[in-house]
Amino acid sequence: MELNDITDREYAVIRELLFRQSGISLGPGKKTLVVSRLFKRVQAHGLASFGDYFTALKAGTIPGELQTAIDLLTTNETYFFREPRHFSILEELVDRVPRRSVFRVWSAASSTGEEAYTIAMTLQELRRKGRSPDWEVRASDLNTRVLQQAKSGLYSMARTESIPGDLLKRYFLRGTGRYEGKILIDRKLREKIEFARINLIEPLPDLVPFDVIFLRNVLIYFDTPVKRKVVIQLLSKLKPDGVLFVGMAENLSGLVDGLVSVGPGVYRRDRRE
Ligand SMILES: C[S@@+](CC[C@H](N)C(=O)[O-])C[C@H]1O[C@@H](n2cnc3c(N)ncnc32)[C@H](O)[C@@H]1O
Repeated sequence: MELNDITDREYAVIRELLFRQSGISLGPGKKTLVVSRLFKRVQAHGLASFGDYFTALKAGTIPGELQTAIDLLTTNETYFFREPRHFSILEELVDRVPRRSVFRVWSAASSTGEEAYTIAMTLQELRRKGRSPDWEVRASDLNTRVLQQAKSGLYSMARTESIPGDLLKRYFLRGTGRYEGKILIDRKLREKIEFARINLIEPLPDLVPFDVIFLRNVLIYFDTPVKRKVVIQLLSKLKPDGVLFVGMAENLSGLVDGLVSVGPGVYRRDRRE
C-alpha cells in the first residue's frame, strides 16, 4: 500500500467518525497525518485499504480498535510547568481559601499527566509551608494510552528539564538499572491523583464541584459549537466562584455567558449566573 493511498471519500469517513466520537475537527489538510498515524493499524489487521479499515471501525467489527484509532489520532503534546504563570495564579487562588476546606482541582485533558503532577506539586508545596488546605486532584483524558502513562508516573529524564531542582529532588525518584534515564513520581503524590477516562463531549459523570478546572490546549481541536458545549458542561462542575484555566492563547470571550476573564487563559465563574 502506498502511504498516500487514501481517497477523499475515505478521508470524509474517518473525519466524521472522529468528530462523532471525540468532537475533534480534522482540517482538510490533515490527510497525511491520518495516513501516517493509522497506516500500521491497516497493515496489522491485514486489510487491503484504508477504506476497509474505516468500514471496520464504523461497524465495530474489530474489538477495541476504535479506541486505538482515537488514541493514535489525538495530539498529546504537554510538559511539566507548561505556561508557568498559571501555576503562580493557582498559588494565589489557594491563598484565599479557608484552611479547613479541601481544595479540589480537575485537569480535564491531562494527556500524559505532566499538568496534573505540576498542579499536585504546586499544591503540596503550599501545604508543606502551611499555606494550603488539604487538596485533591482529578485527571482525565479521552485517550487511554496517555492515561496509562500518566498513572504510571514514569517519565524520561529529558522531560523533567522544566521542573525546578528542589521539586525534582522532593517529588521524583531517579531510576536505576533497567530504569536508567527514567524518573518516577513519588508514590504519595501519585496516589493522591485519581485518573479516569472522561470524554468531554459526553454527559459528564457525577463529580463534586471543583475550585479550579484546567482545560488547557484542548479546545483548539474543536469547532465553536463543540467548544461551547464542552465549556458549558464543565462550568456545571465548577464552584460558583471557581476558576477555569484554558491555554494562554485560547480566548473564550463571546463563547458562553457566566465567565469573567481574570488573566490570559484564566476565567472566573460569574456568581450571578
Ligand atoms: C495537547 S493535549 C493538552 C494537554 C495539557 N492539558 C496541556 O495543556 O499541556 C490535548 C489532550 O486533549 C485530549 N482530548 C481531545 N479530545 C478530548 C475529548 N473529547 N475528551 C477528553 N479529552 C480529549 C487529547 O487526548 C489530548 O491528550
